[in-house]
Amino acid sequence: MGVFLLLLVLIGLETSKAAAQSVGVCYGIVANNLPPAVEVIDLFKTNGIARMRIYNPNQATLEALRGSNIELAIGVPNEEIQSIANDISSAANWVQNNIINYANNVIFRYIILGNEISPNDPTSQFILPAMQNIYGALGNLQNQIKISTAIQLSLLGSSYPPSQGEFSPDAIPYITPIVNFLSTNGAPLLANVYPYFAYISDQKDISLEYATFTQQGYTDIGYQNLFDAMLDALYAAILKTGASDLQIVVSESGWPSAGGEGATTENAAAYYTNLINHVNSGIGTPMRPNQSIETYLFAMFDENMKPGATSEQYFGLFTPDKSQKYNIASIN
Ligand SMILES: *[C@@H]1O[C@H](CO)[C@@H](O)[C@H](O)[C@H]1NC(C)=O
Repeated sequence: MGVFLLLLVLIGLETSKAAAQSVGVCYGIVANNLPPAVEVIDLFKTNGIARMRIYNPNQATLEALRGSNIELAIGVPNEEIQSIANDISSAANWVQNNIINYANNVIFRYIILGNEISPNDPTSQFILPAMQNIYGALGNLQNQIKISTAIQLSLLGSSYPPSQGEFSPDAIPYITPIVNFLSTNGAPLLANVYPYFAYISDQKDISLEYATFTQQGYTDIGYQNLFDAMLDALYAAILKTGASDLQIVVSESGWPSAGGEGATTENAAAYYTNLINHVNSGIGTPMRPNQSIETYLFAMFDENMKPGATSEQYFGLFTPDKSQKYNIASIN
């Protein structure tokens, strides 16, 4: 790591200490070499990471979280959505087993129904009724725990310039009632936001500097970084559904260190450091200025059994032996 990079890391640290805690980390477990949950929760604590996203109601993780003060975003896996949508007692059982049984000493922030469900996926029709059933089953926890879903930005049919952002014709009938439900309940929409994938798919128009927050100055459309442009395109699309007050929470963002175009340790270190700095800074985006941006870094560990592109296995902030890949001493 060069002196320049080290400097960036140190600046990031200093800023983040004073700022509101807006950064969490996704704890994915698609691997066969990860430490036990108890050690992972300790690793979150020793690194000052105050929020966690998990994808399944893993009982060992929930047990290890007891008394930890880590705020949790917990996923309902895609395979369970349909039965929860069709059967109130199935929703009630899920909430009893994974929320109520732990709620006395685990802090639940969100229940996330579905991750990156495409409008063409048969499961998409069950997301809203599943959200409604889980909401009903929460009873007096309704005000404390927000129900949402995590979308991918491919739901946008148009995203450039950001002010022209809108959902694709396919996505509109799927996402509009969900957005209305969130708005009614004061819950945010969660979105997985990856400048990395936008960058590797269009290096002709997108520079590495723009994608990693290192561009000097603003583009002619008024943006200094791609992350803000992607977020604002989604804000513009949400506005067009009629929900003006909805917040976006970034439920995943990251950059791989290997396994693909632009996937280097140096680029990833710059991305994570600058992302943390930016979302904690309180600058916000051009359309939503002057606020910190709640963001979950993807991910805690390199996951050696992730399918898809090779780079999918190299998004960790830590290796499975618990060493930091980027010398970010305190992530929050
Ligand atoms: C954001 O903060 C700046 C600087 O304090 C201020 O000039 C501007 O009016 C604020 N914008 C909004 C939308 O609050």
